[in-house]
Amino acid sequence: MSNDFTSVLVENRVFKPSPEFSKKARISSMAQYKKLYAESIKTPDKFWAREASELTWQTKWKKVLDWKAPFAKWFVGGKINVSENCVDRHLLTHRKNKAAIIWEGEPGEQRTLTYQQLHTEVCRFANVLKAHGVKSKDRVLIYMPMVPEAAIAMLACARIGAVHNVVFGGFSSTSIKDRLDDSQAKVVITADGGYRRGSVVPLKKNVDEALKDTPDVKCVLVLKRTGQETEMKEGRDFWWGDEVKKVKTTCPAKAFDSEHPLFLLYTSGSTGKPKGILHTSGGYLTGTYCTSKYVFDLRDDDIYWCTADVGWITGHSYIVYGPLANGATIVMYEGAPNFPEPDRFWDIIERLKVTILYTAPTAIRAFIKWGDEWVKKHDLSSLRLLGSVGEPINPEAWMWYHKMIGGGRCPIVDTFWQTETGAIMISPLPGATPCKPGTATLPFFGIDAAILDEDGKEVKANEGGKLVVRKPWPSMLRNIYGDTERYKSAYWGTYKGIYLAGDGARRDKDGNFWIVGRLDDVLNVSGHRLGTAEVESALVSHPAVAEAAVVGRPDEIKGQAVVAFVTLKEGQTASPELTKALKNHVGSAIGAIAKPDDIRYAAALPKTRSGKIMRRLLKEICSGGKIKGDTTTLEDLNVVAALSAGTKDDD
Ligand code: WT7
Repeated sequence: MSNDFTSVLVENRVFKPSPEFSKKARISSMAQYKKLYAESIKTPDKFWAREASELTWQTKWKKVLDWKAPFAKWFVGGKINVSENCVDRHLLTHRKNKAAIIWEGEPGEQRTLTYQQLHTEVCRFANVLKAHGVKSKDRVLIYMPMVPEAAIAMLACARIGAVHNVVFGGFSSTSIKDRLDDSQAKVVITADGGYRRGSVVPLKKNVDEALKDTPDVKCVLVLKRTGQETEMKEGRDFWWGDEVKKVKTTCPAKAFDSEHPLFLLYTSGSTGKPKGILHTSGGYLTGTYCTSKYVFDLRDDDIYWCTADVGWITGHSYIVYGPLANGATIVMYEGAPNFPEPDRFWDIIERLKVTILYTAPTAIRAFIKWGDEWVKKHDLSSLRLLGSVGEPINPEAWMWYHKMIGGGRCPIVDTFWQTETGAIMISPLPGATPCKPGTATLPFFGIDAAILDEDGKEVKANEGGKLVVRKPWPSMLRNIYGDTERYKSAYWGTYKGIYLAGDGARRDKDGNFWIVGRLDDVLNVSGHRLGTAEVESALVSHPAVAEAAVVGRPDEIKGQAVVAFVTLKEGQTASPELTKALKNHVGSAIGAIAKPDDIRYAAALPKTRSGKIMRRLLKEICSGGKIKGDTTTLEDLNVVAALSAGTKDDD
């Protein structure tokens, strides 16, 4: 990349793709991007139809889009099988014996599955699901470690039209139970355990705990991964390995309607329980296929590694569906980045000759902290492209990633998107877009992104406002499972017919989007969304707690740390033991990522006269600042004075 220093100011550093990179890229200049972008916005149906027609449809659609805001149908009348597109269609090409998945377990085992082998495994497992009575549109909960069988299970569901709901392996049994209740899944797919930082995560045990009072689940399919002692309930629990031996190695890829539900994925909102985001088939696959192709500029000889977990949307769209629909070779790694040593990622890249790395700012910041010597031990010259996702990447982290990992030669695609958007929305195209550290730059083709003020007017350059998308796009969410009203109000209620992302942003004079952060009560901890309301209700469910308010404070590694302000019930006293107990309580209610970093005890919480907790004040208090904002609506000013004086976390 060439380096254009137009000013000594950090914000003005611009990195253009090198001529060598551009020459080989699908989109190789800004002129080409601008032309295609303008066309895609003027005639989106034409753009998306061209992309969709690169996929295999069993019946072609009659109409590209049916939009009755806020309800979209894409590729109306089309019939498609998502698993056929990710697997079978490559068997008719030179990719048949190409590696689809190169997997590495945390203890060090390695396994490679060609597209042909992946096909056999997906078919067998689809037959197992059928044998256990799973039918089209049935919900199936997947709670797995990062092993190829996680992807196989997803693709097997897709193959038979079942709707998967992957639950991140770090979530607790309560989280599993909540999702089972909401989605009414009747089959669970899990493993005895998985490896994480040298220990075994007891996945099956967590499932058993969740199933104690969930009698609707009739079948649990269990992969033997770690081999530890595992209880199996007669008639309900079955070993994956035994079941696949009983079935055929082929399973027809039936055609499903383009709008057939593909999966549910739960994500946090500002109020209430996590929302079950619903994605469907033809549009979702078109979006993930097309963005993988252009943003990562995937090539047949690439070794592509996205380090996310399949439990998050990034794992769905950019480990499984997008790359496999492109016939790419993907790397999948089971464990922690610092096991056995902090150079595990660099070791994998060097050994497997990874060419594209897609990871998160929180990981990059952790690597910076662990020290450059771990990176320098390895030859990373195979890398040609880097990606970032999950939160804004701070310029120092961007520069380190660029220099230390990319050797100054790899473009960085800072990709902005969400669980709801299904696919990348704002991102550089690596052969075309000049990058500035910290901005996700420009909207992807067909994405009509804008920033609006309170009145719905587009703001001027460098003015802040709300990030929106004005036109529907194929991979957009279709609904919140079982809660259409919440779908309408959360995303479409602020500006009529316009999608509200929930993020604040500004555009610079070159049109680059700078994402400032969430505007709602949602925290971004290590690139993952946490609703303050969820953590608060977990705290309040502890017998000692009367009331709780949760806010984020800036954290060097995690982006945001979780701070809980807690008032105790009469007769309870704060103590280090209680602090520990409360943290663990949240851990078991949601999962380790939600554990508060600090707990502060208070006699009362600052509230408005109408009784709303003033989180803004709490945020200012825990960021160490003075109370600057308006306190005129505050009910009791003494409360803030007491909090600022600080009953600090004593853990
Ligand atoms: C929220 C979505 C999409 C996969 C990971 C997170 C933030 C995500 C970026 C980025 C600035 C980003 C936003 C967004 N975010 N990527 N490149 N730059 N912010 O998915 O859990 O649905 O969270 O993550 O705040 O709204 P998610």
